[in-house]
Amino acid sequence: MRKLLVAGNWKLNGDSASNQVLVEGVIAGLQDVNADMLVCPPSVYLSQVLAACDGTELEVGAQNAAVYTSGAYTGEISPSMLKDIGVGYVILGHSERRTLFDERSEDVAEKVVAALDAGLTPLLCIGETLAERESEQTERVLTAQLQAVFKQLGEADRWQQVVIAYEPVWAIGTGMTATPEQAQATHRFIRELLAQHVGELVQGIRILYGGSVKPDNAKELFAQEDIDGGLIGGASLNAADFLAIARAAS
Ligand code: PGA
Repeated sequence: MRKLLVAGNWKLNGDSASNQVLVEGVIAGLQDVNADMLVCPPSVYLSQVLAACDGTELEVGAQNAAVYTSGAYTGEISPSMLKDIGVGYVILGHSERRTLFDERSEDVAEKVVAALDAGLTPLLCIGETLAERESEQTERVLTAQLQAVFKQLGEADRWQQVVIAYEPVWAIGTGMTATPEQAQATHRFIRELLAQHVGELVQGIRILYGGSVKPDNAKELFAQEDIDGGLIGGASLNAADFLAIARAAS
């Protein structure tokens, strides 16, 4: 059985005071949650959130990382630096990075390898736009996004350390969620695709759903066989909502 993971992507939100309230609020409710929980604050607040989470079950992740380890790359943060301060996870290839910051699937794949090399668990985001879904391109798009990573990530057993987040772009921040059936069908497709490369190991790979997950739709989504938790944006900024979603995964 895969243990469910509920991850919060804070995006470009928060400040020292509000982060403290939010993270303490989440920690206060952890005892009622059976799923693994993770928060991903902006990088500048990682140390603050790590300190607040110290000694608790709440994990901390970054929202992006460089492909480089060190050197003349002004403005970048390396996976090994994240590891050094105690970060365990990193979101990679979020659709906002792909569309707003021109990250191509090949770049994302290189980052996945760099993150794994540094000992981080990558949360690899994939997903199709509305136009792609409507023109029945979903499977082609997801295949291409994953294919880039298959190419870079040689050995199958490295996939054991990767978490996938399927986030239909049209559902992110829009209030439009994929129906549980739609999401399940796509998750099944992703798992079958992964199985072609990693065989039985696929049973251990967590595939999260993301895109307008809220307390009132989480339970049905997480009840689907191939949905192993969620990547939560807006609703992760409120401790009560984030915890309610995590309880739905328990
Ligand atoms: P949302 O964002 O929950 O606000 O739709 C999800 C995400 O972008 O990871």
